[in-house]
Amino acid sequence: MFIKESSILLLICCVFIAYCEASDRHDVRKFPEGFLFGAATAAYQIEGGFNEDGKSESIWDRLSHQVPSVVQDGSTGDIADDSYHLYKRDVEMMRELGLDFYRFSLSWTRILPTSFPDKINAAGVEYYNNLIDEMLKYNIFPLVTLYHWDLPQKLMDMGGWTNPHIVDWYADYARVAFETFGNKVKHWITINEPKEICYLGYATGLLAPRIKGSGYADYMCSKNVLMAHAKAYHIYDEEFRPKQNGSIFISISAEWNEPESEIHAEAADDKAQFDWGQYAHPIFSKTGGYPEEMTQIISRKSAEQGFYRSRLPEFSPEEVEYVKGTSDFFCLNHYSTQVVYRNESAVGYYDTPSHDDDVGVRIYQKEEWRIGKSQVTMYVPWGFYKLLKTIREKYNNPPIFITENGFATHGGLEDNDRVTYYRGYLNSVLDAIEDGSDIRGYTTWSLMDNFEWVRGYTEKFGLYEVDYESPARTRTPRKSAFVYKEIIRSRSLDHHYEPNTTIMTIDERH
Ligand code: BGC
Repeated sequence: MFIKESSILLLICCVFIAYCEASDRHDVRKFPEGFLFGAATAAYQIEGGFNEDGKSESIWDRLSHQVPSVVQDGSTGDIADDSYHLYKRDVEMMRELGLDFYRFSLSWTRILPTSFPDKINAAGVEYYNNLIDEMLKYNIFPLVTLYHWDLPQKLMDMGGWTNPHIVDWYADYARVAFETFGNKVKHWITINEPKEICYLGYATGLLAPRIKGSGYADYMCSKNVLMAHAKAYHIYDEEFRPKQNGSIFISISAEWNEPESEIHAEAADDKAQFDWGQYAHPIFSKTGGYPEEMTQIISRKSAEQGFYRSRLPEFSPEEVEYVKGTSDFFCLNHYSTQVVYRNESAVGYYDTPSHDDDVGVRIYQKEEWRIGKSQVTMYVPWGFYKLLKTIREKYNNPPIFITENGFATHGGLEDNDRVTYYRGYLNSVLDAIEDGSDIRGYTTWSLMDNFEWVRGYTEKFGLYEVDYESPARTRTPRKSAFVYKEIIRSRSLDHHYEPNTTIMTIDERH
C-alpha cells in the first residue's frame, strides 16, 4: 500500500516537473541571431537648449510659446530633458540597458539656423558629433532621424510642407547631414511619421503648425513629404552610399484597423489605405503611386463637390518611378489598434470636404483594451501581429525594422503595465517572425520621459523616469528598464523574469 502510494506520488512529481520544463521552454522565446535592440527619442522632445549657441526657432518653439498655451500643462521644450547638456548621461543609460543602437533626431534649426545650407552652425554640429562619438566609443550605433517634426519656423512662414519647394529645402538639409555626419552615421531615417506630420499638422490641426486644411492641405503635404523623402534617398543612394556604405529608410506609423465584423472589412481596409497605405504604397508596392481605392474615392468626391480636379495632387508617371523603392527597410512605428465600421452614421458625420469624410468610416477603441491610467495607449498585442502579417503579405515580405513601440503611464518606477505591454508586443513580433516576417530590429519609445507634444509632460513613455523638478533632470530606471535590459542581454523573452531593481549596472558588453 505504502509502495503504491509513493510511486503514484513519484509519477505525479515527474509529470509536474516535465510540465514545468515544457511550459518554461514555451515561456522563454529566443530572438533570431542578429536581431537588434534599441531605444528612441527626438530632438525637440529631449534636447532643450532651444535658443542656445545659434539655434533658430522651429514650429514647436513657436507653438509651445503661444499664449494662451495649447500644450496641456502649459509646458515647453525649452529645457525638456536638457540632453543638450546631459548627453553623456544619456549614453550611460544606453550602456546600462546594453542597447545595440540609439535612435535620435537632428534638429534642423540647430544645424542650419537660416534653414538653408549657407550657414552651418558649428556649435550644433559639435553637439551631435559629441553625442555620436560618445555612443561609438561604446559600440552603440546611431540611427539618425533627419526630420522629427521640428520644421524651421522660417520655412513654415513660406508654406511649410504645403510648398513644393520644400522638396529642395529638405534635400539640401539632408545633404548637409550626410556630408557632415555620414562618415560615422550608417543608418538614416529621412522622415518620422508622414501621417502625423500631414494629418495631425495640416488636417486636424492637433500638432504644429496646427493648420486646419483637412482634405486638401494634408494631401499637398503628403506628396511633398514623399517627394522630399525620395530626393534625400536618391542623393544618399547615388552620391553618398558608394563611399559611406550605409542604409536609408522612412519611418511610417501604422495602427491596426480591425473591422467590427466581416461586413466592415472594406471599411477597415479603406481606413488603412488613407492612414498608412498613403505613404507605404508609393514606396513599397510594385506599382507605386497612391493606393487605387484612395485615389478613386478622393477624385470621385472632389468631382461631386464641384472641384475642377482631384483634391489629391497625384504623382506624374515619372514621379511614381522616382518615389518607388526608396527605402531599404520598412521602418514601422506602432502603438495601438482601433475598430472600424461604416454605416449610415458616417454619412454627413464629418465636415465636407475633409480627409475623414473622404475615408467615410467611424472608429472606436474598446475599454477592455485599457491597462493602466493613460488615455493614449492601449494593450492590443494581436493587432500588432495582424499588422505585421499584413505588411508581409501586401509588400512581398520586406525587411522590417520596428522604429517605435511604447506605452504611456502617468509616472512611477513600478511600471508593471509597461512591462506587460512590451512583453505582449515583443511576443507578437516573435509570432510574426515565426510565420516568416523578416523583422530585423526593435526600438522602444522611449529611452526616457520627454515632452509629449501637445500633452506636455503629462504622459510618460520612458524606460527611465525624468525628474522635471530637479535642475539636473535626474534620470532613474523604471522596472521596465531592468526587464528590457534582460531581454537584450539574454536575447530572449521570458514572461516570468522578475528583475532586482535595486541597482542598475552598466551592461558587460559596454
Ligand atoms: C512620435 C513620438 C511620440 C510618440 C508617442 C510617435 O508617434 O514619433 O514623437 O512621442 O508617438 O506619442
